[in-house]
Amino acid sequence: MSAELIDGRLIANYYREQLKKTIHELKTEDVIPGLAVILVGDNHASGTYVRMKRKACGELGIHSELYHYEESLTQDELVLKIEELNGRDDIHGILVQLPLPQHINPITIIETISPSKDVDGFHPVSIGKMVTNQDTFYSCTPLGIMKMLEYENVDIKGKHVVILGRSNIVGKPAGHLFLNRDATVTYCHSQTTNLSEYTKKADILVSAVGKPDLIRAEDVKQGAVVIDVGMNRNAEGKLCGDVNFHEVKEVAGKITPVPGGVGPMTITMLLYNTVKSARWQLVNRQNG
Ligand code: GUN
Repeated sequence: MSAELIDGRLIANYYREQLKKTIHELKTEDVIPGLAVILVGDNHASGTYVRMKRKACGELGIHSELYHYEESLTQDELVLKIEELNGRDDIHGILVQLPLPQHINPITIIETISPSKDVDGFHPVSIGKMVTNQDTFYSCTPLGIMKMLEYENVDIKGKHVVILGRSNIVGKPAGHLFLNRDATVTYCHSQTTNLSEYTKKADILVSAVGKPDLIRAEDVKQGAVVIDVGMNRNAEGKLCGDVNFHEVKEVAGKITPVPGGVGPMTITMLLYNTVKSARWQLVNRQNG
């Protein structure tokens, strides 16, 4: 293996230790960061994610509350619950796990969450601030990628970053965070022709597509930094990313594995945003 491994578990632990210190400082000011998690219906994967998020909160001393509703919950009932949580001083973050049932409009729901508690970074106010390079809540996976690269001292300024995937949660915001750090950004997606022509020119390649073996050795520039956001199952049922790790590790300069790469960073950034929200609320209170 020529590439250096980017160990997401190790880096996530580093940031979690830092967060513990901030949480301790907040406690001396009588503030305990609080996250409300809303889950509607019985989607198995969503249930697993919510459990992992709440467990991580518990490990750091962040208070979390789960509101688990039946699939039949109406949109109006959900809006009312979010409005109640918006008004609570002890809740600093509100997370509505997606996807929602068909009869509930996710845009309406996301826009009901107060931007000051939008720890997922999905609200149009948060997106607008991100695009205009202002401090705000950034979407957790893209933020996790930036924090990983910061930890690894990867230079971003002037680098060519190629993003594969244009989802609202990962691809699009990731491109903006790189742009804000003075990278030159290219987006590729399902309609891109000759994908390899772009990927081969990337100094930093981020793949968030959801296709095993999408990226092979011949698609990567020698020494490139390769970030794999894919979460797939291969033919043997094993967890894998979008990148053929065994091939690409011989070409890349640095590479994230799956599992143990970007995944652990995503939940850590949810904790980070919740603590950031609690700090903001405290500063606002102290400033009257
Ligand atoms: N569903 C899949 N990923 C996410 C996420 O990051 N946040 C929320 N709220 N729902 C999701």
